[in-house]
Amino acid sequence: ELYNFRQIGADTKVYGVIGNPVGHSKSPLLYNAAFKHVGFNGIYLPLLVDSAANFISTYSSPDFAGYSFTIPHKEDGLKCCNEVDPIAKEIGAISCMIRRPVDGKLKGYNVDYLGAIKAIEEALALGASNGAPASVSPLAGKLFVVVGAGGAGKALAYGAYEKGARVVVANRTFGKAKELASKVGGQAITLAELKDFHPEEGTILANATSVGMKPRIEDTLLPQEALKHYALVFDAVYTPKLTTLLREAQEAGSTIVYGTEMLINQAFVQFERFTGLPAPKQLIRDVLARNT
Ligand code: ATR
Repeated sequence: ELYNFRQIGADTKVYGVIGNPVGHSKSPLLYNAAFKHVGFNGIYLPLLVDSAANFISTYSSPDFAGYSFTIPHKEDGLKCCNEVDPIAKEIGAISCMIRRPVDGKLKGYNVDYLGAIKAIEEALALGASNGAPASVSPLAGKLFVVVGAGGAGKALAYGAYEKGARVVVANRTFGKAKELASKVGGQAITLAELKDFHPEEGTILANATSVGMKPRIEDTLLPQEALKHYALVFDAVYTPKLTTLLREAQEAGSTIVYGTEMLINQAFVQFERFTGLPAPKQLIRDVLARNT
């Protein structure tokens, strides 16, 4: 699939994904197709960058309206912002940066976590029968068990906490679980304790470790027997799409949310931040489906 730009003119806003490597990124295809679809005057480029700081200071004109950040620049990107969203600061990494039109200042956000949280909220809302008002997150008051305390674990823990969930953090290195749990007013447990953990009704389990990722696809966090106690299981691992954890959870009767949903939802959120327009969701899903 080729990029298909509209006419580029003086008013065209320039966006891009800052990474290294960056050639594999689907973001240019996705955003250019979406900009065109909604009639937004912007282009989105793959930006192979060694130093985020050098790049940002060089391309400082207002035409450069925003960036996505990918490996390995999510942490150093944070240091290049004029202002950082409080959750991104806690996570210690940004996933996008937006230039404020009024003063040209760059603000960093982390919307990776919003992608996962939105996908989980949607799955819970579909299954909800109690008719709770839409303004209250279906995560409010729920027990939310995050496994992992790296970048993804932090993002999920802060996201769930922000939605009013009661967070439990399990991690191989217990000290990291304790540190993260204390920040979100939650409880820390070891991986061994996770195996004996008795979740209450409606509990959510989120894997934010690399356990189960290709090539070690047989690996899983918990025996299947333990999974039936969880109402919903999310796996941040998306290679393969159906991990052993998700397959066994589904067989045990839990609702499952794929890691790919986290990616798609964060693209929706980022599109809306960049353009101020609602994301063309079906188009974005179609472009990704055709190109993966
Ligand atoms: P990410 O940005 O994807 O979260 P990360 O910051 O490197 O990546 O974090 C990886 C997470 O997976 C950590 O929580 C790590 O546990 P430790 O803090 O103990 O290192 C967890 N992890 C990686 N491999 C694991 C394994 N084989 N078993 C259990 N946890 C594992």
